[in-house]
Amino acid sequence: MASFLGNAALLMMLLLFTGAAESSPDERYLKLTNNLTGNLNLTLDCAANLTAIGQQVLPPHAAFEFGFDRHATISCSAEWPVLRLFSWFYPYSPEDHQDNCTYWKIVQDGPCMFNSTTKNEDCLPWMRDDDA
Ligand SMILES: *[C@@H]1O[C@H](CO)[C@@H](O)[C@H](O)[C@H]1NC(C)=O
Ligand SMILES: *[C@@H]1O[C@H](CO)[C@@H](O)[C@H](O)[C@H]1NC(C)=O
Ligand SMILES: *[C@@H]1O[C@H](CO)[C@@H](O)[C@H](O)[C@H]1NC(C)=O
Ligand SMILES: *[C@@H]1O[C@H](CO)[C@@H](O)[C@H](O)[C@H]1NC(C)=O
Ligand SMILES: *[C@@H]1O[C@H](CO)[C@@H](O)[C@H](O)[C@H]1NC(C)=O
Repeated sequence: MASFLGNAALLMMLLLFTGAAESSPDERYLKLTNNLTGNLNLTLDCAANLTAIGQQVLPPHAAFEFGFDRHATISCSAEWPVLRLFSWFYPYSPEDHQDNCTYWKIVQDGPCMFNSTTKNEDCLPWMRDDDA
């Protein structure tokens, strides 16, 4: 019983700590949505400053949202089962993105970012290994 209460208290502290971290002024967020046509799973492999965040398999229309330090540069690779090319993009870099949360929708032709100024979804072409 004592150990259960101890664990509960620890969990509470972790939750409080997480809550505090989320309101940090240096925290930024990305929300990446699978907008592929054809009911395809989208596999995303994102990294913060080239350190892997962990692979996500997004079912159709699902989203992956995560927080990170605003000084980090986020890169993601995207794969899906049909016409799979190794494609990647930079959904966030400190120079290019000022919003607290940046929203992307991934379609076959490339990643599309919601521009909070123009309210448009601006689509970029995929980058490939041979673009580097
Ligand atoms: C963005 O985050 C900063 C710092 O946490 C906060 O002051 C500001 O109100 C936020 N802006 C929006 C649009 O949420
Ligand atoms: C994402 O999918 C929705 C629903 O199918 C569609 O209305 C929207 O235009 C799509 N967005 C992009 C950027 O393709
Ligand atoms: C999509 O992913 C789910 C969960 O990982 C899996 O069960 C399903 O078979 C996948 N669908 C396709 C079409 O690959
Ligand atoms: C990422 O790199 C930037 C610039 O080198 C640095 O300021 C920042 O602390 C790094 N962020 C992380 C999460 O490692
Ligand atoms: C949003 O669109 C405006 C006007 O085209 C452009 O100047 C700005 O750089 C865009 N914002 C981002 C984050 O790309």
